Amino acid sequence: MTDRPAPDAAAALPKLFQPITLRGVTARNRVMVSPMCQYHSVNGSPTDWHMMHLGRLAVGGAGILFGEETAVEARGRKTHECAGLWDDAQIPHYARLTEFIRQQGAVPAIQIGHCGRKAGCHGAVKDWAPLTEADAAEGRPPWQGLAPSPIPYGPGFMAPKEMDTDDIREVIDAFGEAARRAVDAGYDIIDVHGAHGYLLHQFLSPITNRRTDGYGGDRAGRMRLLLEVTERVRAVWPKDRPVFVRFSVVDGKGGVWGLEDSLALAQALKERDIDVLDISSGGIGGETDMPALPRTPGYHVPFAERIRAATGLPVVAVGMITDPRHAEDILVRERADIIAIAREFIWNADWAAHAAKALGVPGANRLMPEEYAHRLDLRDRQQAMGFNRPGPESAAAFAVLLGEAGAAAAQ
Ligand SMILES: Cc1cc2nc3c(=O)[nH]c(=O)nc-3n(C[C@H](O)[C@H](O)[C@H](O)COP(=O)(O)O)c2cc1C
Repeated sequence: MTDRPAPDAAAALPKLFQPITLRGVTARNRVMVSPMCQYHSVNGSPTDWHMMHLGRLAVGGAGILFGEETAVEARGRKTHECAGLWDDAQIPHYARLTEFIRQQGAVPAIQIGHCGRKAGCHGAVKDWAPLTEADAAEGRPPWQGLAPSPIPYGPGFMAPKEMDTDDIREVIDAFGEAARRAVDAGYDIIDVHGAHGYLLHQFLSPITNRRTDGYGGDRAGRMRLLLEVTERVRAVWPKDRPVFVRFSVVDGKGGVWGLEDSLALAQALKERDIDVLDISSGGIGGETDMPALPRTPGYHVPFAERIRAATGLPVVAVGMITDPRHAEDILVRERADIIAIAREFIWNADWAAHAAKALGVPGANRLMPEEYAHRLDLRDRQQAMGFNRPGPESAAAFAVLLGEAGAAAAQ
């Protein structure tokens, strides 16, 4: 792994590979592995699957490495296999991961959340279908989620419990406690999941929040729970480590929550000392005439850029960013500060190291562990010498080694 470049040397690097310092945490570059649910946890704790999954990403050179949305309480999971951090006994299982990630030079990061009314379903490969009596018979019963209003997520989902003020206090406490455990587990960055139709987003959106008390009604009321949660997390999280918040800048098909609302939310988050805004979209569901966000490369970038300009806060851009030159262009044009990637990392876990090479970063191999980098350096030298290229010299060498040189000379 590369030691951090000296400041002058760093300024000469492509922006994507310049370190970024957030409070007391420095990431070696601006490539972030975006959170990705795995549905491979047991009682909320990570397993060998996670060591493999995060391990292959950790050795690939990214600066910031998120695991997945991690539930702050057991009923805040979508599936029985979702990650969670609601019990101190879970801490050592996460500490094993953060230790390995840090050893590889990446910054370990955790996203905490609560799925609210999305509770009690299957994972992604079964399209998040609701759990049924048949699943219950096999030991995987559905359970009742929580929500601002008792509106089911979709057909077959249980109506969620409409949260009373005790439930709200409990959820805020659970976020705080999960943040405390994340510190003990060794995470340097925490992200509060306020996007994708999860509980905090359910409070933001008038589609799902029909409350008439202080946690509903106008935009300020609907933002209140997310803001109280982030205040709590910021208070628990060490002063020298950054807090990110991910939110859906527009609802997409669900409609109603739009850019103006997000600009107000972003400002309120800034006032609460949040360090980075992680710009995503969608997840509430429902039908309106608001268009779905077209999935073009970098589809959140125009929104990230607007929020960055309005707040002056660093922002993360995510969504179909796969080309290193595109990522670099987004940063150089100051449209975002960090580039997050999810699916391309599934396809190519070493994307960051490959991107560094494509952008001409000296010593790009050194983003990988020493055992790999050493061998890749040797291969680079061999390639530079032209040894590997077919030509008269290599043909002559092959002829000798294959015992064909004499025969060729005799002909
Ligand atoms: C397998 C998978 C799991 C995901 N899980 C989460 C999650 O836990 N939390 C979250 O905020 N986003 C999650 N997402 C969304 C990604 O973080 C990312 O925002 C989205 O996939 C767009 O980026 P991409 O085009 O680079 O994949 C997930 C995406 C994938 C593909």
